[in-house]
Amino acid sequence: MEKSAIIKADGIEKVYGTGRNALRVLKGVSLSIGEGEIVSIMGPSGAGKSTLLNVMGCLDGFQSGSLSVLGRELSGLSVEDLSMFRNRHIGFVFQLHNLLPDFTALENVMMPMLIRRDRRQAARAAAISVIERFGMEDRLDHRPGELSGGECQRIAVARAIVGRPDIILADEPTGSLDSENSRVLMNTLFELGRENGATIVVVTHDAGIASITGRTITIVDGSITETQ
Ligand SMILES: Nc1ncnc2c1ncn2[C@@H]1O[C@H](COP(=O)(O)OP(=O)(O)OP(=O)(O)O)[C@@H](O)[C@H]1O
Ligand SMILES: [Mg+2]
Repeated sequence: MEKSAIIKADGIEKVYGTGRNALRVLKGVSLSIGEGEIVSIMGPSGAGKSTLLNVMGCLDGFQSGSLSVLGRELSGLSVEDLSMFRNRHIGFVFQLHNLLPDFTALENVMMPMLIRRDRRQAARAAAISVIERFGMEDRLDHRPGELSGGECQRIAVARAIVGRPDIILADEPTGSLDSENSRVLMNTLFELGRENGATIVVVTHDAGIASITGRTITIVDGSITETQ
């Protein structure tokens, strides 16, 4: 039986700027991602990968087309509703990790659960358990400025998954890691995702990482050219 689509995009058009400065970045992108799938997105720099991920993650709007996530049509939602939807259902790993500099690694990972008003004790326990899976339990009290680039990325991935979101969107989460450590990080993410039944979409330039996902979508100059 075919699994139902958890993310469905139809003819998404995204333009930055207006008039002479208008830049058409997504040129009618359509895709369908099934529940529990692990998918990679590849393509050259500037192709629109981050833009597409931001749109799917409700971080950014689009001009035309339709997007449904978890069966809900998102094009009409207000910014407040979008951010509430995101906090509840989507874990996002940013291309630049975006950890909060004044908070410790542990507090950063607890944050999504605190924002949705889970109890502090539960958030702390969940955060520690996920941080352990990434082998970072001896860095709980370090602030991002006291962590290496690769350690920040591991903490950012832990933060994305701690609240057991339905969907995890990760934008090149292994940029500061060598290929062996990237593979370890991604394997841990995929393992945790499978345990939680999460759907995972990961943007990567690393063919080794793409090869351990179930399917790769290639985007070139704002259009999907291949999906295999
Ligand atoms: N906020 C913005 N305003 C105007 N143009 C933008 C904005 N964000 C991105 N762009 C442009 O849109 C295009 C696509 O950017 P995007 O970040 O999606 O690329 P990408 O595929 O993720 O590239 P990379 O692999 O380098 O991360 C680029 O040409 C970029 O300059
Ligand atoms: Mg990008």
